[in-house]
Amino acid sequence: MMKWKKKTISKEKVIDKNILILLVLFMLGILAAGCRHSLALQDGSGNKKDGLTQENGESDKDTIVVGFSQVGAESDWRSANTESMKSAFSRENGYELIFEDGQQKQTNQIMAIRTFIQREVDYIVLAPVTETGWDTVLQEAKDADIPVIIIDRRVDVADESLFTCWVGSDFELEGKKAAEWLNRYARTKGIAPEDIHIVNIQGTIGSSAQIGRTKALSNAAREYGWDLIAEMPGDFTQAKGKEVMESVLRQYDNINVVYCENDNEALGAIAAIEAAGKRAGSDITNGEIMVISFDGVNADALGYVKKDKITAIVECNPFHGPRVASIIQQLEAGKTPEKFSYVDEEVFSANKTVISLSVDGKDYDVTILSEEN
Ligand code: AHR
Repeated sequence: MMKWKKKTISKEKVIDKNILILLVLFMLGILAAGCRHSLALQDGSGNKKDGLTQENGESDKDTIVVGFSQVGAESDWRSANTESMKSAFSRENGYELIFEDGQQKQTNQIMAIRTFIQREVDYIVLAPVTETGWDTVLQEAKDADIPVIIIDRRVDVADESLFTCWVGSDFELEGKKAAEWLNRYARTKGIAPEDIHIVNIQGTIGSSAQIGRTKALSNAAREYGWDLIAEMPGDFTQAKGKEVMESVLRQYDNINVVYCENDNEALGAIAAIEAAGKRAGSDITNGEIMVISFDGVNADALGYVKKDKITAIVECNPFHGPRVASIIQQLEAGKTPEKFSYVDEEVFSANKTVISLSVDGKDYDVTILSEEN
């Protein structure tokens, strides 16, 4: 019995030794692969395409490499926009997408663009946080012969040949639609302009979305004689929207309209309104505070429209991925895409007081939301 036991133990030892050898060989294999990978990525050009070719063992000459510098992740709109870009520029669709989150900082975005240039990407896509300050880095991209496609917000550059084209929203038109909705509502309900006391929770200062929406509201307030009490930056975030609303509610007791420059701010503002024991709604002659906002992406915000907690949302469409892919395909085919392409956008409300709008001589229907749609 003892003998048998001894024999068994020594057999296990042999097995252990074999497993150990196999493990060592496996680890060495992984190490070797890792070295190959980093050498490929750090070769002379620093071009990730070379790395991929060696890694996959297949030619990537048809893969289009796109560097995308995104603003950040401040809102649901932004997340939907990122998603749209990621799914349009997938490997299955023949792309390699290098995604860089700028975390709301222009310096990060400039750094990302410089990295894309170093990596010799085929195209650069930029969603700029603010409008100004892009001339130098876009000149660098132009000198490197890399086409730059601007999406969403605009860039304010001295030479428009620094970018190939732009696709996004007409933010001032969005603001005009919101202001015209309020104007028609007030007129229909017989509310005097001087009885409309508005607070504007603005977006990121210096971004096209803020500039256009703020301009439209202040022009309308001047034209119609509304009382525009305050304009304060809410950075397009829910937390800041809440903070700003709490602060203005402490300072003013007559606010009856809050114009939020996006839905996330609106959600924050509503939380502050309710925490202060007030109601968000369209019945402003009976103490409610009307919330108007932009985007129409966040499901909670759309749910609030149906409950009249947000009275109207002017859509801002984030789905630019397929639009940019189509621009790139045009460029690949040697065509010249439109320099500026605007997307069509709707107005959503559950309130049937205003069912259509006229802005700059053009008519727009209001899409009435209900629990069914
Ligand atoms: O530039 C588009 C704006 O940016 C959206 O309205 C807002 O939600 C986002 O953060």
